[in-house]
Amino acid sequence: MAKVLVTGGAGFIGSHTVDKLIDLGYEVSILDNLQKPVHLNGKPDYLNPKAEFIFGDVCDAETLKNALSGVSYVFHFAAHQGQLLDFSTFYGVNTVSTALLYELIVAHQLPVKKIVLSSSQFVQGEGLYRKKEGSLVTPYQRSTEQLERGEWDWTEEDGTPLKWLWTSEQHANPANAYAISKYTQELTAIAHGKRYGIPSVVLRYSIVQGSRQSFYNAYSGACRIFNLSYHFNKAPVIYEDGLQKRDFIDIRDVVAANVLVLENALADNKVFCVGSGQAYTVKEFDRMVAEAHGKADLQPNIPGAFRLGDTRNACSDIAKLRALGWTPNYTPRDSVEDYIAYLHSQTDLKDILADAEKTMRNLNVVRKVRNGFRKVK
Ligand SMILES: NC(=O)c1ccc[n+]([C@@H]2O[C@H](COP(=O)([O-])OP(=O)(O)OC[C@H]3O[C@@H](n4cnc5c(N)ncnc54)[C@H](O)[C@@H]3O)[C@@H](O)[C@H]2O)c1
Repeated sequence: MAKVLVTGGAGFIGSHTVDKLIDLGYEVSILDNLQKPVHLNGKPDYLNPKAEFIFGDVCDAETLKNALSGVSYVFHFAAHQGQLLDFSTFYGVNTVSTALLYELIVAHQLPVKKIVLSSSQFVQGEGLYRKKEGSLVTPYQRSTEQLERGEWDWTEEDGTPLKWLWTSEQHANPANAYAISKYTQELTAIAHGKRYGIPSVVLRYSIVQGSRQSFYNAYSGACRIFNLSYHFNKAPVIYEDGLQKRDFIDIRDVVAANVLVLENALADNKVFCVGSGQAYTVKEFDRMVAEAHGKADLQPNIPGAFRLGDTRNACSDIAKLRALGWTPNYTPRDSVEDYIAYLHSQTDLKDILADAEKTMRNLNVVRKVRNGFRKVK
């Protein structure tokens, strides 16, 4: 059976994809440098023993070239993620590793048949909105002053809220270093893939949830924070008014999408959104987590804080991937239950919470509104 290289295969999405590929009979190699804080305790014990594990950096040419030996397919998941201020690292890891992948394949005429690249809904930024007279608008970023006034929604000049819309792959409006680096990965993959005849597929994931999401990775946001909070009987903090909309996608649906585009030539050289097609407010998601923990009496804390750079709404249009025969089968409640089972399988839960809290404090991107904010029930 063909050999697949999975970069970042020790991580959340990568490791689940590795398991599926092995089930399907592929030979699998993982290239991963066990980045901290994602892997605070070293090699995770969930790694599939049937996969070859190569410890190394995707940006190291010799390591990547050796890992590509005998490989027919590549999933490129390894990435620097988050909202920290080390801007150059996003490009240094994400953009450079993608360019290096194509450079090595072209230079050494490696017989790679397809590359699947993980991108992010973040590329779409705020996405599309509609004015009341019907025209489309693509807002960029809310100003710090607006957020400090506690004015969360996008509005028209006269104060009428703009209507948020499901946003498709056609739209790109990246507004931070992570998102820009992901967009450069997309452009690199599609351009070099077409130019050099290496079929390439880009998957723009929405917020992926489920077991094995790192407890220490500040990137794995609401699912990790809300679950850890309710597990330890604490009220989680909700930013803004909690009415911002998100779409959450279960890891099992993501793995199904990964396999589908690997095996279906109709996906080649295209970009696809991978989301749930269902929008939830953050408050709704919070209640879902609280109920799953049997803690519905514990109410979240909504102190009028916000995270600089957050989008107000982010929901992806998944019609294009549906047209290939994929459909999401799991609900956010399913993902939460999967995550809770994973949480309960851990032995050092107290340390996990302490580290998770430290990560959040270190992020230091949270601010508070000035006078005049009214708590929305
Ligand atoms: N989880 C989500 O909600 C989500 C959403 C959109 C996009 N994505 C993208 O999906 C991919 C996988 O994300 P994830 O959630 O599984 O993250 P993760 O942090 O769990 O896994 C990433 C893996 O990459 C490895 N890695 C990082 N830098 C590396 C390097 N330089 N060399 C080798 N290995 C390196 C890490 O050690 C880790 O095992 C990423 O590209 C991410 O940007 C994730």
